Amino acid sequence: MNKNEVQNELQYIEKVKEINQNKHLQYYIFTMGCQLNENDSEKISGMLEKMGYTRTENSKEADFIIFNTCCVRENAEEKLFGKIGEVKKQKEERNAIIAIGGCMMQEKHIIEKLRKSYPFVDLILGTHTLYKLPKDVYQILQTKKRMEDVVDIDGEVIEGLPIKRNDNIKASVTIMNGCNNFCTYCIVPYVRGRERSRHPQDILQEITELAKQGYKEITLLGQNVNSYLREEKWKEKGIEWEGVYSFATLLNKICEVEGIEKITFISPHPKDFTDDVIEVIAKQDKISKLIHLPLQSGSTEVLRKMNRKYSKEQYLALVDKMKKQIPHVKFSTDIIVGFPGETESDFEDTLDVVRKVNFEQVFMFIYSRRVGTVADKMENQIPEEIKHERFNRLKELVESQIAKNNQAYIGTKQKIIVEGYSKNNENMLTGRTDSNKVVIFEGTPDIIGTMVTLEIVSEHMWYLKGKIV
Ligand code: SAH
Ligand code: SF4
Ligand code: F3S
Repeated sequence: MNKNEVQNELQYIEKVKEINQNKHLQYYIFTMGCQLNENDSEKISGMLEKMGYTRTENSKEADFIIFNTCCVRENAEEKLFGKIGEVKKQKEERNAIIAIGGCMMQEKHIIEKLRKSYPFVDLILGTHTLYKLPKDVYQILQTKKRMEDVVDIDGEVIEGLPIKRNDNIKASVTIMNGCNNFCTYCIVPYVRGRERSRHPQDILQEITELAKQGYKEITLLGQNVNSYLREEKWKEKGIEWEGVYSFATLLNKICEVEGIEKITFISPHPKDFTDDVIEVIAKQDKISKLIHLPLQSGSTEVLRKMNRKYSKEQYLALVDKMKKQIPHVKFSTDIIVGFPGETESDFEDTLDVVRKVNFEQVFMFIYSRRVGTVADKMENQIPEEIKHERFNRLKELVESQIAKNNQAYIGTKQKIIVEGYSKNNENMLTGRTDSNKVVIFEGTPDIIGTMVTLEIVSEHMWYLKGKIV
């Protein structure tokens, strides 16, 4: 789809805006899942605001209610159906439009359940049809009929959608969609389709624009950011745009954007972490030295069954290489406990890697069976109580490491971007260290959005306290 065709779709924004004129309509958006979904929600908000809706945080006041769903783990389903039940009243009382979009809508059994048990839902939107929201809303307003707009074909990369960002200092920029890795536990490749990279020119244009608007921090998003442009085979074909043909060259180029002070990315895959990327991280001050490196399991046998394509030793060797080449590098990770067939000794391997790497942050998940994935059909599913017991042991280890790591911050100087007032303590300003630790400190509002140096004075498990020096 070329940009003109997108513009055609977007003309429906104007039509809806006309219908909504002077009605003072409000929308409520609820987002589940990862930062890619958050970024999609910013685009949904952008379109809705252009259509004449203003945002409300209270679903009871809303005329348009949209849920942007995730299906990576099972608990999201219960949460969604509970939420839809709650808003049924708004449908009856004020004829609100109820829409559901996102990853869960790419699952057939969910669509069937919605059709059967929740017929009052007006619009179902898949992950590849996000940009059609204005046209769908227009048709619903015209016909008052229920719509389903879900396709199985990978959508092309859509450029030029309006966007309403949640923050005015840090911004997320999606650089690629989809995933080709098919880790055996994971639903994402089925609901997000194959890898498709955005053109570097579009990415650079977006980031330059953000810098002009005063944004300081950029998070690059993708399910596997370090395979950027791999499917498109730019490197093999000798294609490039201003020197960009890979993830490493993209990072280098983004570092040139004036005004952007900090660049992070999630998630890279350990198997694709090439030396050129390590070199760029080491060389460029703007790139965060906290690297998110999803481990999933520390057992080579479990990793093989997960189709992760690296061993325990390869993961540790990669970490060691980075520790040698990148001064002050730190790591965060994702770990799944209770994958089918995981033995006590496999789990011990996970604990062993956690001890050795000494992660700054660990996102821990209990394995959740997903319909349609390979692991769902594996024998030796682990009983719930063992999964929970292992989860708790992992959590204990991680928390003891974090407490120890926190001690090491006391007395150090940290350069941070002032993000605003702390949500938990309205008198204090807040920001994050390069290792993503929240720091609170006293200061005046005029320094919001600037970079300051803090001395850390105390630690409190989930945050640090500092003072400006
Ligand atoms: N593409 C990213 C993350 C995708 S989903 C990556 O590969 O790192 C985010 C995290 O959810 C994964 O890293 C994994 O730890 C977790 N996850 C995915 N599927 C899961 C499942 N079926 N059960 C439990 N956790 C899961
Ligand atoms: Fe899922 Fe693996 Fe792809 Fe990450 S890399 S989205 S865990 S299949
Ligand atoms: Fe969830 Fe979809 Fe992200 S399944 S984790 S919202 S890509």
